[in-house]
Amino acid sequence: MKLNLQGKVALVTGGSRGIGAAIGRSLAAEGVHVGFNYHTNPESAEALAAELRAAGVKATTVRADLGDEASVLNFIAQVSAELGAIDILVNNAAVCPSGPMESYSWETWDRTLRVNVTGVFLACRELAKSWRQRQARGKIINIVSQAAFLGSTSGHLPYDSSKGALVSMTRALARELGPEGITVNAIAPGMVKTEMVIKNLETKLDFYLSRIPLKRVADPDEIANIVTFLASDAASYITGATIDATGGMLMH
Ligand SMILES: NC(=O)c1ccc[n+]([C@@H]2O[C@H](COP(=O)([O-])OP(=O)(O)OC[C@H]3O[C@@H](n4cnc5c(N)ncnc54)[C@H](OP(=O)(O)O)[C@@H]3O)[C@@H](O)[C@H]2O)c1
Repeated sequence: MKLNLQGKVALVTGGSRGIGAAIGRSLAAEGVHVGFNYHTNPESAEALAAELRAAGVKATTVRADLGDEASVLNFIAQVSAELGAIDILVNNAAVCPSGPMESYSWETWDRTLRVNVTGVFLACRELAKSWRQRQARGKIINIVSQAAFLGSTSGHLPYDSSKGALVSMTRALARELGPEGITVNAIAPGMVKTEMVIKNLETKLDFYLSRIPLKRVADPDEIANIVTFLASDAASYITGATIDATGGMLMH
């Protein structure tokens, strides 16, 4: 299968660790230059950028907060300035506060929706604008979650709501941008071995496995490789889809 990704430029949000770092490695393995942000973790971001450069692609990392408009715009501008025009946008970063419904303040709700939804909208708007001007067939891949469809069992109401909004945004953007050849897709992971869910996996592994027909949690690479496929020419006729990557937990 020809992916034809060599020399493309990708912007990945939240690439400093977890699934985002695996996405950076998977894209770089196909010759994609990768710009990614970190929020709190410059050391692991710089280490990944060095690793990607050693693998033969250009890589850059920028501090960015997806909950802040100026920060998102600066992130996009810096990646474009250093790596060239962006071809692929991967909206991966997210925050996931925990607790029962009544524990969430207005601020926590608002912050979660700003980072997980509003920041994604802003990145999509900016990249779609530049693709339209360049008549480029850009690719958007949004990382959502099974929680958008099933709801979390461990209390993440603002996160679940934000991921539902992102599924809807994927479909709405796919319709709006389809006529220009821009594709917009989502991936819904189930349980993936990263810091976001490590405490749940340590305390309730048997419970999670009981819900997963494949009887194991995913490795970040198993999500990242789907991103690389969706970013490639091999996925040229897929848009508006949400790919279930849950080991069968979801089956929607
Ligand atoms: N892990 C799972 O089981 C699972 C399941 C379903 C869906 N997902 C989704 O997969 C994606 C990646 O999850 P993950 O498990 O890899 O997460 P993670 O390990 O918690 O990593 C989150 C990433 O997002 C960055 N980030 C956090 N807050 C940010 C902000 N305000 N602005 C910009 N960047 C920010 C972090 O940067 P720093 O390192 O610098 O803090 C980090 O790179 C998320 O969309 C998540 O919802 C994960």
